[in-house]
Amino acid sequence: GKVAVLLGGNSAEREVSLASGNAVLKALVDQGIDAIAVDPKIDDITLLKKQGFERVFIALHGRGGEDGVIQGFLTTLGIPFTGCDVLSSAIAMDKAKTKQIWQSLQLPTAKYQVIVKECFDESECASIIADLSGTVMVKPINEGSSIGMAKASNAQQLKSALIEAFKFDNKVLVESWITGPEYTVALLNGKTLPAIRMQTKNEFYDYQAKYQSTETQYFCPCGLEENNLATLNQIANEAFEAIGCSGWGRVDFMQDAQGNWYLLEVNTVPGMTPTSLVPKAAKQAGYSFERLVVEILKQTL
Ligand code: DAL
Ligand code: MG
Repeated sequence: GKVAVLLGGNSAEREVSLASGNAVLKALVDQGIDAIAVDPKIDDITLLKKQGFERVFIALHGRGGEDGVIQGFLTTLGIPFTGCDVLSSAIAMDKAKTKQIWQSLQLPTAKYQVIVKECFDESECASIIADLSGTVMVKPINEGSSIGMAKASNAQQLKSALIEAFKFDNKVLVESWITGPEYTVALLNGKTLPAIRMQTKNEFYDYQAKYQSTETQYFCPCGLEENNLATLNQIANEAFEAIGCSGWGRVDFMQDAQGNWYLLEVNTVPGMTPTSLVPKAAKQAGYSFERLVVEILKQTL
């Protein structure tokens, strides 16, 4: 039946989603699948059923598209969709709730504090920095693609970073800094795809490094020896299941200099842009982009 590729939307990751969705749409159409782009920012999605769409490929990133809202709407309409269900999507969008669940299961994640905009008192910045070992990463809790993130190494920098992050969210995560490198593990229909290690010249794997830089390096195979890689995959699987995720997704990690793993977050609608990670991992596993898209679409059957 006719497939709607949901793309765009009105989150801060709109541009990324347009790139993901258009790549997915082209792959489906090239394989003779009757697929049409639908942008909830522009199109009336209450008409999806009447317009005869029988399945939905969700290529929306961020709030409204990756956080359970659209998943709940489609569940109500009775239209099958790709990826995670309402609850797991909602939890995964919230980096703090996600970490709380992982901590409760002894899964490794960096020490953190949650700062709420209405309660923010700048005189606390020094003690937050001290509590989190001197250097921190500041992240809007419900964002993606590193939007609104910054490193801070003293109270003044933390204050500026928080003020910036509060432009994107009323709740902000302040995490102990882990130098990295950053790794990621994609999961597809119950299996892990080959892990990727990212190397950037920037302070961290930020928006520029993700989508604009020609200098970001991606290592897949990632160079870990077998035991270490098995541990990474095991943690990725447990982390994904702990949140109740299914279908597909991507679990992001940091590794410190001692080789310890730290879970960062799980992305329930990972990027599918030309520089995105899941397509790279799939390629290493022998899947073309077209085959990857079809495997994801099978989740609607
Ligand atoms: N949030 C972006 C799309 C990603 O995780 O790939
Ligand atoms: Mg993300």
